[in-house]
Amino acid sequence: MFVKRWQALTAVSSFLFFSSVHYSKFETNFFSDSKNVSSSLNIIPTQSTSELRDRKSPEATPFSNISYVNATFFIEVRGKPDLSCRQICAVEAAVTAHSDYPVIVYMTGFNGTLSPWMETSPNLYVRKLNLDELILNTHLENVYADKNFRDSPIVEHVSDLSRIALLKQHGGLYMDIDMILMKPALNFGSFMVKNQGNGVLRFDEASPLLVKVYELLGNIKYNRDDYNLLGAKIIKKAVKEVCYSNDCALDYEKAGEICYINFVDNELFSPVPWFEFKKLFTRNINLDNFRPKVVKKAVAFHFAGHVTNSIPVFKNGSSLFNEIAKKYCPKIYRSFPDIY
Ligand SMILES: *[C@@H]1O[C@H](CO)[C@@H](O)[C@H](O)[C@H]1NC(C)=O
Ligand SMILES: *[C@@H]1O[C@H](CO)[C@@H](O)[C@H](O)[C@H]1NC(C)=O
Ligand SMILES: *[C@@H]1O[C@H](CO)[C@@H](O)[C@H](O)[C@H]1NC(C)=O
Ligand SMILES: *[C@@H]1O[C@H](CO)[C@@H](O)[C@H](O)[C@H]1NC(C)=O
Ligand SMILES: *[C@@H]1O[C@H](CO)[C@@H](O)[C@H](O)[C@H]1NC(C)=O
Repeated sequence: MFVKRWQALTAVSSFLFFSSVHYSKFETNFFSDSKNVSSSLNIIPTQSTSELRDRKSPEATPFSNISYVNATFFIEVRGKPDLSCRQICAVEAAVTAHSDYPVIVYMTGFNGTLSPWMETSPNLYVRKLNLDELILNTHLENVYADKNFRDSPIVEHVSDLSRIALLKQHGGLYMDIDMILMKPALNFGSFMVKNQGNGVLRFDEASPLLVKVYELLGNIKYNRDDYNLLGAKIIKKAVKEVCYSNDCALDYEKAGEICYINFVDNELFSPVPWFEFKKLFTRNINLDNFRPKVVKKAVAFHFAGHVTNSIPVFKNGSSLFNEIAKKYCPKIYRSFPDIY
């Protein structure tokens, strides 16, 4: 009964982009853990926009004074006060690769307590994701105030909406928190990854493509059951409207020129093909031998948390994930338990 997000995403993207990948063979309910996240987000179902605005607390923005130049954003929407080992590994890798610029983690469940490692990372900022503050009084409040959204928003939609709101406010790089940076990702200008929907997005806040995404998102009729509605579908529509002069020009380079964006190869952010996601946690694979040409060029390692989170990693083992964690998040890795 679940619409498989990746499957739909691939269908969506192959319509527009060239794609030889077919996720449909992969028998996993990728998003079977989608759930009603009203309570962790303090979303009260029956409120109207004006009621919402009234209750908006004039909360001081804790780091309004930081420079958002070359900022990296992560969003964690599952409502827990801390990050999983794997997520925190992604954060350390980003903090290291982008050490001259802020890395900002928004968490729906953040309770104000930072781990010692986080406190000592000078370019890391952690903040509670406050949707009222982020979205009310913006063009996106239509979706946010929609009764269907308020009744039972799902995590993916909250995350899709928030990343666009953040990018529109500050510009910057958004990455899903299951991407471990192996090197800086700030040399591509504004970019999107071919065939990756909205998992990695870097926009200038005035980017015409981002402005279009924002505009379309604010005018959408919310439908809870449509997983890609606020993500891949909107992006696809915006790319089509802004980057293509006509429907048959399926050419990334031309499209990119028209809308001032680079479409980068999927392998740079996902050197592991989808059918190997699980193997990378279970088999002993040497990082130096694994697809060396691809890995050498790659910028990030996408570990597809929704597929692999339930697979334990043994700290004494040499699965690819363990090798990557050791190498790219060495500080926090030391404190991981034997099985993580
Ligand atoms: C931002 O403001 C806070 C609180 O006023 C202050 O502690 C912090 O040092 C400031 N940061 C910068 C980069 O100015
Ligand atoms: C916040 O959550 C952490 C667990 O992640 C816990 O150790 C800490 O005591 C909590 N702090 C408060 C103020 O509730
Ligand atoms: C979602 O959760 C909220 C808060 O717990 C509840 O009021 C609402 O009825 C739930 N919605 C659905 C559709 O279950
Ligand atoms: C952002 O990062 C890139 C890549 O490191 C750098 O070339 C650029 O100058 C940075 N932008 C600013 C405004 O510092
Ligand atoms: C690796 O760690 C696991 C879990 O702690 C343990 O069961 C296993 O015996 C260890 N293997 C080796 C070779 O030390």
